[in-house]
Amino acid sequence: MAKHRLYGQSIIWSQDFDAELLEEIFDRADNYKKYPRNEVLKEKRVIMLFHEESTRTRFSFEAAVDDLGGTRISTEDAKRFSSFAKGESFEHSIRVISNYGDAIVLRHSDDDAAMVARDMLQSEGIWKPIFNAGCGGQKGQHPSQSGLDWYTISREVGRTHDLNILIGGDPKHGRTIRSLIYLAGKYPGNRIHLVNPLELSVGRDMLAYGHRHGLEFTQGTDLREYIADVDVIYMTRIQKERFENPDEYERVKGSCRLTIELAQRMKPGAIIMHPLPIVDEIDTEVERLPQAAYFRQSDNGVPIRKALLEMVLGE
Ligand code: NCD
Repeated sequence: MAKHRLYGQSIIWSQDFDAELLEEIFDRADNYKKYPRNEVLKEKRVIMLFHEESTRTRFSFEAAVDDLGGTRISTEDAKRFSSFAKGESFEHSIRVISNYGDAIVLRHSDDDAAMVARDMLQSEGIWKPIFNAGCGGQKGQHPSQSGLDWYTISREVGRTHDLNILIGGDPKHGRTIRSLIYLAGKYPGNRIHLVNPLELSVGRDMLAYGHRHGLEFTQGTDLREYIADVDVIYMTRIQKERFENPDEYERVKGSCRLTIELAQRMKPGAIIMHPLPIVDEIDTEVERLPQAAYFRQSDNGVPIRKALLEMVLGE
């Protein structure tokens, strides 16, 4: 097998993907749904270094490595269960850990952690790819999540362009939202409706990016305004842990909810997405609707991560 152009590269920002590359990732994911196992990671070891909580991202990366014949070392709470807790610097732990495997899958609370890790290793002459598995908040990103999000949109709605996408919840802190919007700008004609309490508005840099890439934005505070017209609704959790002041969270909590009554007003072919975990922002009854795609979306995490691992590490 020839090495892919992503071979040895880190996946840091969703802008690292372009439309052509995404199509190739999606095709490989289709193939992994049919043929889940192979040996492309034979003799490769992948390190899962998670400084923040994770269920889906870590488990799906781990399942993907196992199914591709690789091995892995994992720490689920590096803040407590690594020398980081004793005060070791991030740079030192990355430098040391990189020696134990062929790539690092990293989750961290700093927006730039994955980039810092890659650049620091490269400055030492160490060429080990870093996968950003969700780093940061306000300027953070989660590129593998945006890969599986756009794969879900592509396969469920049938196109990735000229879409009306409603994003609800917490665009200020949501790294999955930022990565999703960056990819929306890679396709023509997409319109993004942001619905959130005013305090949780998306950063101005995202609006500027949108304008540069032909994305149309509208902003509002009421899901009812757009619900009947959208092709995709992407709901998110209000991220309590990222508020500096707990009173501010109390003011906005529960303010953006997709109720069953609202969900029933959606178009038949539209889909309801969520990166998960859902706290209380979607009524449980919504799960029964055919438009509820969030569990199928989450299932797509394994084949998409297999496609990425294969391209980056497969010989
Ligand atoms: C998200 C994250 O960690 O950014 N979860 C995920 O990886 N699917 C979203 C969240 O925590 O709300």
